[in-house]
Amino acid sequence: MSAMNYRKYASYPQVGLTDRTWPDKTITRAPVWCSVDLRDGNQALPIPMSVDEKVEYFRLLVSVGFKEIEVGFPSASATEFAFVRRLIDNHLIPDDVSIQVLTQSREHLIRRTFEAIQGAKNAVVHLYNSTSRQQRDIVFRMSCEEIISIAVAGTRLVRELKEASGNPGIRFEYSPESFTGTELNYALDVCHAVMEEWGASAENKVILNLPSTVELSTPNIYADRIEWFCRNISNRDAAIISVHAHNDRGTAVATSELALMAGADRIEGALFGNGERCGNMDIIIMALNLMTQGIDPKLDFSDLPHIREVYSRCTRMTVHARQPYSGELVYTAFSGSHQDAISKGMKAHKRSPDGIWDVPYLPIDPQDVGCTYEAIVRINSQSGKGGIAYVLEKDYGILIPKWMQPDFGNAVQEVADRTGDELSPEQIHELFQKEYIGSTSPYQLKKCNISWSDEDPEHIDEVSTLISCSVLGPKGEITFKAKGNGPLDAFVRGMVSHTGIEFHVDEYSEHAIGHSSDALALSYIRLAFENGVLSCGSGIDSNISLASIKAIVSALNRSLRS
Ligand code: KIV
Ligand code: ZN
Repeated sequence: MSAMNYRKYASYPQVGLTDRTWPDKTITRAPVWCSVDLRDGNQALPIPMSVDEKVEYFRLLVSVGFKEIEVGFPSASATEFAFVRRLIDNHLIPDDVSIQVLTQSREHLIRRTFEAIQGAKNAVVHLYNSTSRQQRDIVFRMSCEEIISIAVAGTRLVRELKEASGNPGIRFEYSPESFTGTELNYALDVCHAVMEEWGASAENKVILNLPSTVELSTPNIYADRIEWFCRNISNRDAAIISVHAHNDRGTAVATSELALMAGADRIEGALFGNGERCGNMDIIIMALNLMTQGIDPKLDFSDLPHIREVYSRCTRMTVHARQPYSGELVYTAFSGSHQDAISKGMKAHKRSPDGIWDVPYLPIDPQDVGCTYEAIVRINSQSGKGGIAYVLEKDYGILIPKWMQPDFGNAVQEVADRTGDELSPEQIHELFQKEYIGSTSPYQLKKCNISWSDEDPEHIDEVSTLISCSVLGPKGEITFKAKGNGPLDAFVRGMVSHTGIEFHVDEYSEHAIGHSSDALALSYIRLAFENGVLSCGSGIDSNISLASIKAIVSALNRSLRS
């Protein structure tokens, strides 16, 4: 027996469209977008936006590239009305942008809506009434015919007021609100009646918005409904089919995408998915989903951090750290294997001849949406050596060789495990310095002089490099002169014979840091000791030989650390 009372719920009806075609369709271009942030988004806020905030948000939407923006419900409140008037009176609406205003199908509200949009060059009057069985039976207690007559009466008044205004820039949208709870045949009947009243034609299209007012089924069923509707509508050319999906089941984006495949032309939604209850469909996600398929989204989300800042300030809402594309952590990998793959992918991308983005774990280049590569790899106890090396390379130009990465990885892991905290790039760099570079105990190089017995490089023989050193050790200062086939070899020979510790250089690597004449050399050494112990070290100096000798001292010291 389940602990949950699932028997309380009934399953959503299928459409019975067995010859559906939408699953074989591909989205190849962006739909007509309509932002409902300032209406549906705003009406869902605990503290609705002020007129000034709405103006700022409107400008943001325009800058993103929206050509249709539902700006409010002007008959519903003084603020809403004042905002629409501010937009029109202050000429804030670009000529190629249509504002959209929502109204219930009630005479005084429709009249007030027309007062609000007077003087607007382009406006969509969006009329709605609820058509679902629930709303008819429980809320309004009206028959199907009565509901249709409300829609038709509202449409008639909108048509008359448009005619009276003489404004050809006024268009009409009708929503059978709670469409997802409405029997399909009946929803089509209502829409047919509205289209007839409007006189809809290919030249005078009506926008039919079929909202997923409450998301009640899997997205494929909604897509079936849209395909069925598009096939059965009497004059498909006379309607722009629009979708307005809410996110009650968390699938509003999929609902909108599949609806597009099923024949919809237009998509309503809001930035970051703001809207009633679980929100409206997040337009950022849907647009960037298109972009990641190589389709021009026709909206500009190249500065998501700025958009997020304006959004959060005006709406007082936060964006979840895991929100697709726009969340703070969505381009960040903490896990070692992810970091390794990303780091390899980023390098491969730099060499890619066609420039096509193909980086594991990153479906989009963070830079395309205004994010930097800074946060891609962050280090905590879950991270691996590859990620640590990536951070040092990206932020400090330190290219730890592969054979040394496990050594430093262990040092970082130890700190991360002990503190339980994330380590910033600065902390990792500091740790690198502390572990390798600043090491002076028990041995510290005090002086080092290198000379060559034969200045002609062609004739340098095996032991032509002379070194004269002073090294402070646990038993006092050691001063020695030694010969070798290079400075490193000479230094190792000298140290081995004066300390009695047997070791040789097992691995060596170096590179420059910086490009100018004052560039520094960074050397990495791995020493192998008699007893099989391996120890890594690193040294930095303007002189490459000295950098390597310092790296030997660093590796020696680390091997002697208790
Ligand atoms: O969700 C909805 O159905 C609406 C309508 C007013 C279109 O917001
Ligand atoms: Zn809505």
